[in-house]
This record gives sequence, structure tokens and C-alpha cells, in this order.
Amino acid sequence: MPAIPFNVAGPLGREQRYVDEVLTAPGVIGASKYTALAEQWLEKCLGTPRVLLTPSGTAALEMTALLMDLKPGDEVIMPSFTFVSTANAFVLRGATPVFVDVRPDTLNIDDAQVAGAITDRTKAIVVVHYAGGACAMAPLRSLAERHGVDIVEDAAHALLSEYRGRPLGTIGRFGVLSFHATKNITCGEGGALILNDARDIARAEIIRDKGTDRAQFLRGDVQKYSWVEVGSSYALSELSAAFLYAQLEQAHAATERRRAICAAYRDALAPLAADGRLQLPPQIPHQRDNGHIFHLITDGPEARDALLTYLKNLGIAATFHYVPLHSSPAGARLGRVSGSMAVTDRASRCLLRLPVFASMTDSQVNQVCAAVRGFYLQATASAVS
Ligand SMILES: Cc1ncc(COP(=O)(O)O)c(C=O)c1O
Repeated sequence: MPAIPFNVAGPLGREQRYVDEVLTAPGVIGASKYTALAEQWLEKCLGTPRVLLTPSGTAALEMTALLMDLKPGDEVIMPSFTFVSTANAFVLRGATPVFVDVRPDTLNIDDAQVAGAITDRTKAIVVVHYAGGACAMAPLRSLAERHGVDIVEDAAHALLSEYRGRPLGTIGRFGVLSFHATKNITCGEGGALILNDARDIARAEIIRDKGTDRAQFLRGDVQKYSWVEVGSSYALSELSAAFLYAQLEQAHAATERRRAICAAYRDALAPLAADGRLQLPPQIPHQRDNGHIFHLITDGPEARDALLTYLKNLGIAATFHYVPLHSSPAGARLGRVSGSMAVTDRASRCLLRLPVFASMTDSQVNQVCAAVRGFYLQATASAVS
């Protein structure tokens, strides 16, 4: 274990108490008490009609593909600089991912290039709010409306981030959250589907419950339940929901701590950015991120790899990020590229993520800042000598 790990996914509050209750109190597991509490917490916090907990962000993305009735031949536009599930969920329904480059500032889908990727087969634009920073939703929404296509927000990184005062995940037809162990708020494996259009709720509940109308039966709306749709098993377990609810209760405090850590990194490394040695994440007016990732972009792949090794030798676990989907074996076979991928390719070779976790101490943050500065000082000294 490095002296400063990249991430620590520990308990934030009452996880033990709530999980113990599920394990010991008769009837709690069947009543789905914590599933309901966590869903209501998210609905209230996000101001959206319905949120369904799912076993993963991946499962929630798969549900969006079912809800949009995607079929072979349909196209879905997305960035290549993302996690495999963003594409896989749609490929499972036979649709083709169409990869578009990301912007050099935010590393989010390049809104100016999306129009050029739209064809008469396009059904959706899947935007990914990288590192919890918002995509340019206003131009993307007007483009989607003009072409009659849906927007899916892959907000796996973005719980409690905002775009012009609106929570990310609530702007498109669907939003997707991840509660994987690497995320700000976690239950190990978990996710949520945000339903921003009330017309999707009844069908989404059916799809989540193996294609049955069991949710209506449990509410007393129908007298028996049966198979009514194509669906699958997309409900989160009550044990995981109990853990998750305890994390959600601490979500605002944990997010504030992460934002403070990122702000400290930004202040300490600003002089290096001003000297053109590295690029820091942008600060965009009217947007608020959630401190999910703090990343640097070095001026070349050699500097990135050397900095990673330098930090590792000091016991600091920094890491790179995505292998672009368009250049991965399955992405090259199953997807299509629209336009240049220059920014994506560069980000995959030059990006480095620094440790961020809610329990990180100020002293650990200072050590990381000193180490990054030390690396560049040493590089300057060896260039001079
Ligand atoms: C951008 C993005 N989308 C989707 C996912 C999938 O989420 P999960 O791991 O909960 O299935 C991830 C996971 O890391 C992700 O980073």
C-alpha cells in the first residue's frame, strides 16, 4: 500500500449501523427500506421525479438503451475518452457507437463536432461529465432538440456537480450515476438511473424488475404481476442500499472536502501552469464540479510517465486514465470515428490523476503538492546542468 493511496473508499458515517439493521431486523430486507430512503434522498437532492437504484452505473446505462428501444443500425454519439460501459450498454442492443473527440479544456465531448457526427440513424447523444465537470449542455441540448434525438448524461463521475445551477444528470432525458468504489459516494458496486421525464417511470420500473409489473402489484395497483416487457434484474441489493444511504447522508460534507483538496492542488500548482509546464483542469463560470478527479496534463507523454514514476517512488499513488475506446480492440471493431481524435489521443498519453479522497489530510495534500513541484524543479535543474 503506498503511503498516500490514490483513493480510499471507507465508511463515512452510519454504514455499520444500517447494514446491521438489515442483517438483524425481521422484515427490513424485504421491505427495501434503505432502497426507498436512498432513492428519495437522490430525488429530493436532484429535484427530479424518479431515481431508481441499480447494481451499477453500467446497468443504468443498459436500462437507458432498453428505454430508448435501440436496435441494430441505430447510432449513438459519445466521446471516445470514457469508460467502456458508456459504449458497451448500447452495443448490447446492436447500436453503433460513433466516437467524437473531446474539448482540450474540459475533456468533455466537443460540442462543436457533434453536429458533424449526426446522421439519420442517430438516436442519442451520450455525454460524459468527465471528472465531474459539466459538458456544454446548452449547445448540446439545442442540437439534440433540432435533430429530435435524446440526451443521456453519463454522470458516473458527477453526483452533486452543477451546470448553471442544475444538478448534472437532470438535464438530459436520462442521467446515470455510479457508486463504484472509485466514486465520491460508494457502496462498492452500485449505480442509479435518473428519470427526468415522468413518462419513462412506469416502463423503467418494469424493465428493472425482470420485465414484470411487480412494482405496481406491490403498490396494490394490479392484483397479480406478470411478464409484460423485455427487462432484466436491475435492482440494487438492500444491503448495498443500506451502506449507500449512510454515504449519501454524508455526501455534501465529503464533496466539500474533495473540493477543498482540489482547490489546494490548484493553488499550489498554478505557478507551474502559468509557466506552461502543465495544464490544470479549467474553471468554467456558472459550473460547479464535485472534486471527483484532479488531473494534470503534462507537455508530453515522457513527462507524464516520468512524473508517475517519480511520485510512485515517493509512495504517492497517482494514475493515468482511459485507453480511448476508438483505439481499443472492441471499440475499433464495433464503433465508428467521426472527425479527428487528436485531443483524446493526447489526453490518454499525457493525463495524470492525483490522489483525492475525503479522508485525505492537509499534510498528505501538501506532500503531493511538494512532490509535483519537486519533480519540475529537478527537471529544470537537469535541463540547466
Ligand atoms: C464515465 C463512466 N461511465 C460509466 C461507468 C460505469 O459505472 P459502474 O462501474 O458503476 O458500472 C464508469 C465507471 O467507472 C465511468 O467512469
